[in-house]
Amino acid sequence: MLYQTHIDSWEQKATIRTRPRRIIEDDELSYYPKERQPLCFDPIIEKLGQSIQDEILLQSLYKYIKDIIIFETEIVNKTASKIAKGHFPYDFPFEVKHDAMSVVIDEDYHAFVAMDFQNQLELQTGIKPFKEFNEIELSRAIPRAIDLLDNTFHKAGMELIAVAISENTVTNDVAAFSRDPNIKRSVKGIMSDHLTDEGRHAKFWSEICKIYWANISEDSRQAIGSVIPTFLEEYLTNDIQKEFDTALINQLALPSIVKKKLIENTVDGYPITSQHPMMVNIRRFLVSSGISEHAPTRNLLEQYF
Ligand SMILES: [Fe+2]
Ligand SMILES: [Fe+2]
Repeated sequence: MLYQTHIDSWEQKATIRTRPRRIIEDDELSYYPKERQPLCFDPIIEKLGQSIQDEILLQSLYKYIKDIIIFETEIVNKTASKIAKGHFPYDFPFEVKHDAMSVVIDEDYHAFVAMDFQNQLELQTGIKPFKEFNEIELSRAIPRAIDLLDNTFHKAGMELIAVAISENTVTNDVAAFSRDPNIKRSVKGIMSDHLTDEGRHAKFWSEICKIYWANISEDSRQAIGSVIPTFLEEYLTNDIQKEFDTALINQLALPSIVKKKLIENTVDGYPITSQHPMMVNIRRFLVSSGISEHAPTRNLLEQYF
């Protein structure tokens, strides 16, 4: 199976090669799309007015930025750099390793941009994140799926597929920012810069998973395929968002009875079914990587198709 390198398009289009630094504007526009933070639609919060909503949206953007930094540096680059350096237990050709190194550069750059942006926000608003959050859904979902496998080769394969799935779903987030007319231009700019690189990454991960999946043994496909459903359930939970929302509500300057009511009202996430908003991208990945053609794995994932 041939692998086509993306190095030419990286040289021409990678944001680290082409984009200027984004400076945050001092205007009336929002930091974060309201549609991504249902708390702002709670009738109590709506009644309390704009400034509390701004506070919630700014803290939500801080969390989003921190999540990006964790995702890029601890999740994607852990796997991408293993591949680039030839430490992944499947020997990919040079072009794959070289492209994996370009992913490492992109993701470190995304984390660098996110740190800069957070610092600009803190200087402009005088407000810091109210709390440090050090985990994202993947920080739990990947180890939990991997723990079910007893073989290092299979563990690495599951990690590869988990990263590939998550790199194929990040584009979903970004769309919410671009369609909201009330968001600051610099925030939208950063999101669309990021999206430019992520389109290339999604394709990279799908293609290398296709090569990997086609070349491993049937036993390996069975073993890895058997834990993909566990990974998806853990990845798509709403637990961490709920923990964040609860902590955010608890530090608002409101009477405790109001906070209690707000916490009761926090919404549960989307049910984890074929209708989940991230499932379109996940299905597309499972098809393009060839994983869904493997009958035993496909049977386990039936509910999502
Ligand atoms: Fe990224
Ligand atoms: Fe990426």
